[in-house]
Amino acid sequence: MDYQAVLDEVAAAVAPQVGRGQVARYIPALAAVDPGRFGIALAAVDGTVVGTGDWEVPFSIQSISKAFSLALVLAQDGESIWRRVGREPSGNPFNSLVQLEHENGIPRNPFINAGALVVTDRLQSMTGDASTTMLDFLRAESGNPELSFDAAVAASETEHGDRNAALAHFMASYGNLDNPVPTVLEHYFWQCSIEMSCRDLALAGGFLARHGLAADGSRLLSRREAKRINAVMLTCGTYDAAGDFAYRVGLPGKSGVGGGIVAVIPGRCTLCVWSPGLDARGNSVAGVAALDHFTTITGWSVF
Ligand code: DON
Repeated sequence: MDYQAVLDEVAAAVAPQVGRGQVARYIPALAAVDPGRFGIALAAVDGTVVGTGDWEVPFSIQSISKAFSLALVLAQDGESIWRRVGREPSGNPFNSLVQLEHENGIPRNPFINAGALVVTDRLQSMTGDASTTMLDFLRAESGNPELSFDAAVAASETEHGDRNAALAHFMASYGNLDNPVPTVLEHYFWQCSIEMSCRDLALAGGFLARHGLAADGSRLLSRREAKRINAVMLTCGTYDAAGDFAYRVGLPGKSGVGGGIVAVIPGRCTLCVWSPGLDARGNSVAGVAALDHFTTITGWSVF
């Protein structure tokens, strides 16, 4: 397989879609991003890394961080997190409050904001510094020691974070947070603000294609845990569009409102695509189209 030729073909096929959709505006610091950007990277389990377009330009990883926080908690703390968060698709937007009261403060899954706040709370209890733990992990897995937080994005989200604060306080009222709400929010906003390129993210997500093996060959997750994270990404990683994402792409995937999507082909490679224009459900328009085209021409979907 000539990976470079495949990515170049994908980029050419989706070029007309780049710039479609809306950049995220509810975090003001993200609204300034150029919607005309597009990049895609592929990191294969044999070590090959290729990319095209803006694949080495850093962007805000946002909700893609939720896949990494879940991995860190499962790796170090086993399955006990599932007492505090479910693993069913929500069918609701990523920042929705409606299910939480019906379900007694237990979020549907770890990838909607409420669930990610619970996972960050656990990581904070385990490490004393959840966001720095994640940054260190991402630096090691991507092989890029330069990765950093974007303080302006974190500050912007803190200032406009009423919805997340509401979710956190609501869960605290059910006893589903161990740390103070401001601490949990702070670490969640900082983890979302980490800046990475498609290349960095494809490499950092490599352990999900390697059945749980970290970049240095050590075992981060058991094969079973890696399988399970991929399963939750498939069913919940793109929120209320997870059904459509499975239909079009057919891979485990995790999106973020920065316009990035990480997708995994277990045993083969991890992909990351970035284009900031989002659809109404918060997923990159050109990014989903690119992954759709990729799995169509390669036949590499799980279906
Ligand atoms: O909490 C938020 O709203 C953002 N930090 C992350 C949301 C996000 O990326 C949802 N993804 N599509």
